[in-house]
Amino acid sequence: MERIPVWIDTDCGVDDAMALLCAFKLPELDIVGLSATAGNATVENTYRNTRDIAALAGRKDVPVYKGAEKPWIVNLRTAEYVHGEDGLGGAAIAHSDAPETSEHAWDALYRKAKELNGELRVVAVGPLTDIANTIIKYPDFPEYVKELCIMGGVLAGPGNTNMTAEFNIMGDPHAAACVFKSGIHVVMFGLDVTLQAHLTKEEVDVISNTDNDVCRLINEATKKTLALYKSLGLGEIMCMHDSCPVLYLAHPELFHGRECCVHVETGGEHAFGKTVSDLYSDAKFGDKNTLAMLTVDREAVVKLVTSIYQSY
Ligand code: RIB
Ligand code: CA
Repeated sequence: MERIPVWIDTDCGVDDAMALLCAFKLPELDIVGLSATAGNATVENTYRNTRDIAALAGRKDVPVYKGAEKPWIVNLRTAEYVHGEDGLGGAAIAHSDAPETSEHAWDALYRKAKELNGELRVVAVGPLTDIANTIIKYPDFPEYVKELCIMGGVLAGPGNTNMTAEFNIMGDPHAAACVFKSGIHVVMFGLDVTLQAHLTKEEVDVISNTDNDVCRLINEATKKTLALYKSLGLGEIMCMHDSCPVLYLAHPELFHGRECCVHVETGGEHAFGKTVSDLYSDAKFGDKNTLAMLTVDREAVVKLVTSIYQSY
């Protein structure tokens, strides 16, 4: 089987960590690079978390690069209320002793994209600052990206950061707007589909009660998120937001969506950071820059991720 080369840019929080742990184990994927951006936590914490999760998965061979410390224009707003101060819900984890890297994320990402001559798939599961930085510094970068799969935005429902905006897009709306206008075709996993891709408490318990270090980490790391969703009246669930684009690259049949055009609102008073699409309107923007994922086979996702975590 020819493996798919994948670069993952992450603001390594709890669901990011669960996505990385899936990515490393999916035989269809070859994780060729990782980069950490600020978002769920500071870039110092997300960089450390990304290195530590790679080491936990036995993949210290995958280089991790440090990305943006802050968004282009808005202020950095981290999400301790979801992921804890450290970004991993306070879970105990050994720190990686892999060699540190010195290149900026956007320089390393562009270098790898050119090296792979257009075969690289990029997964972005945090604010899009690093991706936009790559586009601005290297205008031909879009020519070397086979597919850009993002967790971000929401088309039909409310935001999770305010009434209209999802956390990753709101994390850097101007960078996100740049990405959607760049000519790169985006496969978008917004809250429309990632809220469907959740584990129930009982399903998390099956993983948590498995006797290996990865499942023990998941048990500790998910406690805060489970309690938060319960307190919000959404039930005691763990949304696998960031696993969606990773699982899609290996198992596209699990997801279904529609082509449309998406732009990011960077003006306005009430909809700043909103991903605006022509998916549901007669009026159309004109081009189609996005495959917007709308449904997922949740049962299949639960079965797949459970088997992956239990296989460590
Ligand atoms: O809105 C959910 C997204 O924001 C996920 O990527 C989560 O990790 C946070 O970054
Ligand atoms: Ca994330």
